[in-house]
Amino acid sequence: EHTPVEQAAAWIKESASTVVFTGAGMSTESGIPDFRSKKGLWTKTDPMEVASTEAMNEQYDLFHEFYTLRFKTLERCHPHMGHEILAEWERRGLVDAIATQNVDGFHQQAGSQKVYELHGALKKVCCIDNGHQATPDDFIIGNRCVCGSRLRPGVVLFGEMLPQDAWEKAIEVIQQASVLLVIGTSLQVSPVNQLPLMTAGKTIFINQEMVPAASGYDLVIKGKAGDMICHLNDLLCGGSS
Ligand code: NAD
Ligand code: APR
Repeated sequence: EHTPVEQAAAWIKESASTVVFTGAGMSTESGIPDFRSKKGLWTKTDPMEVASTEAMNEQYDLFHEFYTLRFKTLERCHPHMGHEILAEWERRGLVDAIATQNVDGFHQQAGSQKVYELHGALKKVCCIDNGHQATPDDFIIGNRCVCGSRLRPGVVLFGEMLPQDAWEKAIEVIQQASVLLVIGTSLQVSPVNQLPLMTAGKTIFINQEMVPAASGYDLVIKGKAGDMICHLNDLLCGGSS
């Protein structure tokens, strides 16, 4: 009889279409803090004070300071083995797409091609008023856009709509998935936490701590994203690649 990880590997191996859905827990082993676990960002800062449209419009200095810190963290971190294995699985046809809440760009940096960034990407800096492209350095230095407007990172702020294209594509692939692998998320933020409910396939939840919303999943595996993905990889590809 199978352990949950062995069962997960068997389902992924047989799956006609596997989609992976990741949250901040996918990047903590790279050194990027998550939001709601014990040391998470939102245990020290109120997201509405720094990561909302009000913060951007009413208190730009706080907004700028918060995201400058996030750029600084990102500069000294990089994808870990778990990101790299997910990219390898895409090359081997074991994974069709990744839908992520993360804004660090690590899935693409590790080589994954089909990635839907539901909360945007930190490095896609643009001007607040006209969407003109700019760079993270322009933002960090406090430069204004050539049009005179202030700059912002390309992330979805609290109160903003999600990028419609990524949202629709993620719904499409998740609805068609025969296996949905959810990794490192507390499933507390709407509307992205509705996505896993849209699949007719088998649902696997890998997370460091238990999350009430995952109680209905077919398999619930308590563990670190990186460790569990490596373990699955050993079962799927016989020994570390
Ligand atoms: P919310 O629960 O209030 O609603 C989610 C947001 O998504 C709302 O703004 C809503 O208009 C929009 N939305 C709802 N249905 C949608 C659909 N079908 N298509 C597209 N957009 C839809 O969440 P919130 O508190 O307003 O936060 C908005 C989003 O910003 C959340 O997803 C949150 O995770 C994200 N966020 C990102 C960061 C970051 O740094 N990346 C920080 C804070 C919040
Ligand atoms: N391995 C597995 N799980 C982990 C790991 C790890 N190495 N590190 C943390 N976790 C778990 C935490 O226990 C927590 O349950 O990952 C989950 C992360 O949850 P959140 O911090 O809420 O992050 P996330 O679910 O991605 O938040 C959703 O909220 O503020 C917004 O836009 C932001 O995209 C973010 C959204």
